[in-house]
Amino acid sequence: MKDILILAIESSCDETSMSIVKNGNCEIATVILSQIDIHKNFGGVVPEIASRKHIENITIILEELLNKSQVAMEDITAVAVTYGPGLIGSLLIGVQAAKTISLVMKKPLIPVHHIAGHIYANNLEKRLSFPLLALVVSGGHTELVYMAEDYSFTKIGGTLDDAVGECYDKVAKVLQISYPGGPEVDRLAHLGKDNYNLPYPLDDKSYNFSFSGLKSAVINLVHNEKQKGNEINTADLCATFQNRVVSVLVKKTMRALQEKQVNNLIVAGGVSANKGLREKLILECQKQNINLSFPKLIYCTDNATMIGAAAYYAYQKGIVSDLKLTAKATDNLYNN
Ligand code: KG4
Ligand code: ZN
Repeated sequence: MKDILILAIESSCDETSMSIVKNGNCEIATVILSQIDIHKNFGGVVPEIASRKHIENITIILEELLNKSQVAMEDITAVAVTYGPGLIGSLLIGVQAAKTISLVMKKPLIPVHHIAGHIYANNLEKRLSFPLLALVVSGGHTELVYMAEDYSFTKIGGTLDDAVGECYDKVAKVLQISYPGGPEVDRLAHLGKDNYNLPYPLDDKSYNFSFSGLKSAVINLVHNEKQKGNEINTADLCATFQNRVVSVLVKKTMRALQEKQVNNLIVAGGVSANKGLREKLILECQKQNINLSFPKLIYCTDNATMIGAAAYYAYQKGIVSDLKLTAKATDNLYNN
């Protein structure tokens, strides 16, 4: 069978990335340009700046990718792009670039949902086995997803308020840790002890999550202690916060696996890089004989390689778009 080479584009937030992926699992070459150093100065992503930077960078990145991969445009089978969800101005740049390449080079255009991309980052490690549960934990999403087969997504639970990565970043901000604070909170958590009095997030019979109460508790605690002139033990506070988050994520995920009688678990999104989450899931999955998969660290946060991997399976299902494709700030991935 002829190889399928997909040129993929990701620009939903503050990374401009392009990749060429072969047959859904083989990365030929990838370029990722992160804008973190710019947005750091503002304590978070500034949408207008993000889209301007995407405009400046996108053609340079395409040129660099073609040089790096030594693949000619004519040899590309199709072009794929994250059409949503994300920052609308940022998404539009990627979508416009993909549509232009599709039109000029006469290549099929494959629209990819950002979360499908995060899920298929795991396929770059090992072929997904079905049925599976995906725990999606990123800056914008916290969801438990059931997949009976490729490119079939059923949501069984999700966040009722903030996404888990968003909570990490807000907790980091109040502790004066620079954006994005998740990795640093994770690092500090490993140096501290769980000895602050923080509430446990929603721990009910559903598969839904709620982290905003925990986040507010950390923010209030920091403000109160500051007012009293007391010092905060940042490492201990991070350790306590992380333990609360990880305990409920792991508990609900393990229960879902058991109740749905699923043997395969994949973790996806930026927070899948979290060491505390990885350690606890590895332990629990070993106990219960669950096949567990995480993306390689480089594929945890936003990148176009995961979009190229997902696009291969979308293409197999006949998911292609005409040039009317438009970016969507919000969009539903799910069949139900
Ligand atoms: O998937 P991603 O790159 O962007 C979205 O699609 O949202 O995720 C970014 C999020 C940020 O909130 C960042 O703080 C968080 O992932 N993150 C982490 C870690 N690495 C990245 N959170 C906790 N622990 C980490 N090690
Ligand atoms: Zn993402």
